Amino acid sequence: MDFVDQLIARRSAPALLLGAPVPSEADLARVFRAAMAAPDHGGLKPWRFVVLRGEARAKLGQVMVDALKKKDPASEAEALERERNKPLRSAMIVAVAVSIDPENKKIPAQEQIVSGACAAHSMLLAFQALGYGSVMLTGPAAYNPDVKAALGLKASDAIVAFVYVGTPKAELPAARTRPDYSQFVREWTGPESIAKAAE
Ligand SMILES: Cc1cc2nc3c(=O)[nH]c(=O)nc-3n(C[C@H](O)[C@H](O)[C@H](O)COP(=O)(O)O)c2cc1C
Repeated sequence: MDFVDQLIARRSAPALLLGAPVPSEADLARVFRAAMAAPDHGGLKPWRFVVLRGEARAKLGQVMVDALKKKDPASEAEALERERNKPLRSAMIVAVAVSIDPENKKIPAQEQIVSGACAAHSMLLAFQALGYGSVMLTGPAAYNPDVKAALGLKASDAIVAFVYVGTPKAELPAARTRPDYSQFVREWTGPESIAKAAE
């Protein structure tokens, strides 16, 4: 499969199917080197990666439960249990975050977040190429200042996603059918081409 075919074949894996072995240190190093190649306007290097495995996942679950209770003291026990179990779904999680410099007059926050998203996408591709499964997940915890603080991030940092990763324990379900790209692509030859398309 050539490189472009690998891009086309990228797919997420259900987090619950992602078990041991987690990526080796050597594989992780390659994945992070791929992340370092993300486009980065202004060379801000805004990325922050927090790796969690083993017991740390349960500790994150507790942090998420506490954060949810604080935000919504009326949370149902069932919702709290769901939150607690989320990080346990896969054997490893990499929180991909961006340290946003809001004072930067030249590089808008959006571009800094885009750089983090590019890094996260490269990681998904690299994990897949190395034989692991992965998926980007967020949920309210990704936007919660207490969760960010517990992970050593600032409230102004953006968690782009939690990348859940591991070795698939079973055959993955069929990949989603990809849309026909032509629905999303058009050629612009000048303002008149827009008027023509609307006719
Ligand atoms: C930033 C980001 C956050 C996401 N968060 C969630 C999530 O919390 N829950 C979820 O079911 N899917 C989430 N997704 C979608 C999955 O990562 C995945 O793309 C989707 O299940 C479709 O699978 P595919 O990547 O193979 O097309 C998120 C995607 C992105 C880009």
